[in-house]
Amino acid sequence: MDVLVVHGGAGLWRSPSRRAKRELLAALDVGVAAFRRGSALEAVEEAVAHMENSGVFNAGVGSALNLEGVAELDASIMDGSSLRAGAVGCVRTVRNPVKLARLVMEHTDHVLLVGEGAELLASVFKLSKLPPPSRSRRAEYRRRLSELLEKPPFFMERNIELVREHGGAFLYGTVGAVALDDNGNLAAATSTGGLWLKLPGRVGDSALIGCGTYADNRGGACSATGVGEAAIRVCLAKRVVDLMLRGFSPRRACRTALREMLELVNLPNAVIAVDRRGGVAAAHTSPHLLWSYWRRGEQPRARTRGLHVS
Ligand code: GLY
Repeated sequence: MDVLVVHGGAGLWRSPSRRAKRELLAALDVGVAAFRRGSALEAVEEAVAHMENSGVFNAGVGSALNLEGVAELDASIMDGSSLRAGAVGCVRTVRNPVKLARLVMEHTDHVLLVGEGAELLASVFKLSKLPPPSRSRRAEYRRRLSELLEKPPFFMERNIELVREHGGAFLYGTVGAVALDDNGNLAAATSTGGLWLKLPGRVGDSALIGCGTYADNRGGACSATGVGEAAIRVCLAKRVVDLMLRGFSPRRACRTALREMLELVNLPNAVIAVDRRGGVAAAHTSPHLLWSYWRRGEQPRARTRGLHVS
């Protein structure tokens, strides 16, 4: 049974733009078409690459800028049939970090490459270059920086507080996908520009297998979004998959893992999951999560809420 689930980020926003919903559903279409050419792995890679290219999510072309005003991108991908995985962190010049993560998985002995080493691999394989940030993203950077500097202390919590006060797209937009194909293979992929105004060199959960991304054919697949520092501390994606391995439904696995995380730290996060029977779930501690899924015979629609965990 082919099943594809996609997300466009845990959100503090009230309502995502029509364009974001449209691009999310277009990513689903692209991923479903990729099933026909290949496997769950193709489907998650293509769906995530579409969202990276769209410019409306915090990934690829639309990525948040760090404290120096530079985009540093993270991504990862995992094949549940073999537990092979690839990931990249802190890449500044690559348009589609998810494709680079796939190359790390397929063409190197490694799992995670960062910075210049990852970019070297991208240039060997002639991956497309990331364009410079748009004028509106540079303006957004200046606005956020001046707000942050006006009211120290200079902590991530302060940054989140600012978004709670002013709204905006701070957490809106890490992208991810999980899939199950007709052969029973599961896959997961995640990509992000990370947190606005993060320190240069910061790597989030989206680059870390087990934290932002995990897939295991025996249990399920999971992609996470939200504040990476929280997801890293509990190995969130692996926790969700482990619970499915123990027989939990995707919904119960997502809820349990997020509840456990909330006991540790109250930050906005979210997960999507699919299990080996094709059951799907989306859950969030953030007010919203932009997500959708495709299953044969069902009409997909962009959803802004899943199971809210508090
Ligand atoms: N979850 C994306 C990040 O924290 O980088």
